[in-house]
Amino acid sequence: MEEKLIINGGKKLYGQIKVDSSKNAFLPILAGTLLCNNQVCLKNYVNLSDLRAMRQILEELDCNTYLNGNNLIIDPTNASFSRIGHELTTKLRASIFLLGPMLARFKKAIIAYPGGCRIGARPIDIHLKGLRALGAKIIERHGYLYCYGENMKSGTFVLDFASVGATESLMMSAILLSGRTTLKNVAKEPEVEDLQNFLNAMGARINGAGTDTIVIDGVNSLSGGEYCVMSDRIVAGTYLLAAASCGGEIELTNTNPKHNESLISFLSQTACKIETFSDKIKLKADKRLSSIKKIQTLPYPNFPTDLQPQMMVLQSVSEGTCLLTENLFENRFGIVSELDKMGADITIKNHSALIRGVEKLYGADVFATDLRAGAGLVLAGLVAEGYTTISNIDFIDRGYEKIEEKFKLLQADIKRI
Ligand code: EPZ
Repeated sequence: MEEKLIINGGKKLYGQIKVDSSKNAFLPILAGTLLCNNQVCLKNYVNLSDLRAMRQILEELDCNTYLNGNNLIIDPTNASFSRIGHELTTKLRASIFLLGPMLARFKKAIIAYPGGCRIGARPIDIHLKGLRALGAKIIERHGYLYCYGENMKSGTFVLDFASVGATESLMMSAILLSGRTTLKNVAKEPEVEDLQNFLNAMGARINGAGTDTIVIDGVNSLSGGEYCVMSDRIVAGTYLLAAASCGGEIELTNTNPKHNESLISFLSQTACKIETFSDKIKLKADKRLSSIKKIQTLPYPNFPTDLQPQMMVLQSVSEGTCLLTENLFENRFGIVSELDKMGADITIKNHSALIRGVEKLYGADVFATDLRAGAGLVLAGLVAEGYTTISNIDFIDRGYEKIEEKFKLLQADIKRI
């Protein structure tokens, strides 16, 4: 029987939440454990379906993974080559992160094209162009990538676009190549920096993450060890937008406000009161907020595409109009048709949505179309008057662990049925 979320909305949110570890940091780091020669302990594991899917792929490569309390143990010592089929890769985009580590460790990789949320075409041309620039031989046939790395060597590659995944994949492909590899026009997201910090903790020599150039000096091998993955800035931003939309007063712990400076700056332009500390954020919203006239999604440190649907919900109930432009993905307005059922007033024109704030949203039966649109619908259900049921919630479970339990901590009336 398909699970659904049912929300009785229209209540303010009050309380404190500890933010979980970051899905988008954990995923490339999990792929990176393949480069290690000994056991790795990743602390504060978060039980998400995307992470379980990545663990399944590692186990296909004979890397044993198991939980020790809240910590995930990965043992790559007996890793062995295996072809990674589409039954494993279609579950998530992050399966492509394995290309670099498999080439580095096995000198070859046979892997089906990645899957992931249908928010656009999501090509992997930059990944492949970079690997080929470093000498990899890659044949694309019948939905599979046949990759051979015995002739790979260090070098310089300028990314056509600051792709997060391509940056992370290319970083990992160069770690065991002797000599210096320079990657230019790379993504500056915090998750790229966290991956660098993890790999360096295992013995790699990488510098520059967080800037537009990353330099990797090859080493012979990586050890094992312990690492604490960063907190999830998108989950934190989702909670902040929930409280801003519903009103109330919340406190987030185990979060780095520096990772959400763009969102905090936008919310501070409305009537939200926000206080930030080194590892905490407090937000208070006690009246209907004014609209933010213009917002566009851009690579970090600008406003993140992964908070776009959630921001759309806030703007749907704010006073005034907002022009929200999505620059990263060509099909990331899936939430609009569902918000329309709830009484929102949104007009899409090309990559922009013109949102005219309404006094109220009303509960309805809605469907999640992808992970972040699903999270946005939870916010819409929380703010709407009456009952909302959300279907296809396995999308939401990809990036939020027990989202209903978290919002119950904030006194929301929400349950999984
Ligand atoms: C990562 O996806 C995140 N996923 C996404 O989060 C996030 O939305 C995205 O970065 C942007 O911040 C993970 O980290 C697992 P990109 P990724 O490569 O790496 C184009 C979520 O909700 N592109 O930076 O796939 C691409 O089509 C997910 O948690 C190419 O054209 O994003 C897109 O338009 C959704 N060719 C743009 O670049 C390539 O080879 C940004 O993609 C690669 C990307």
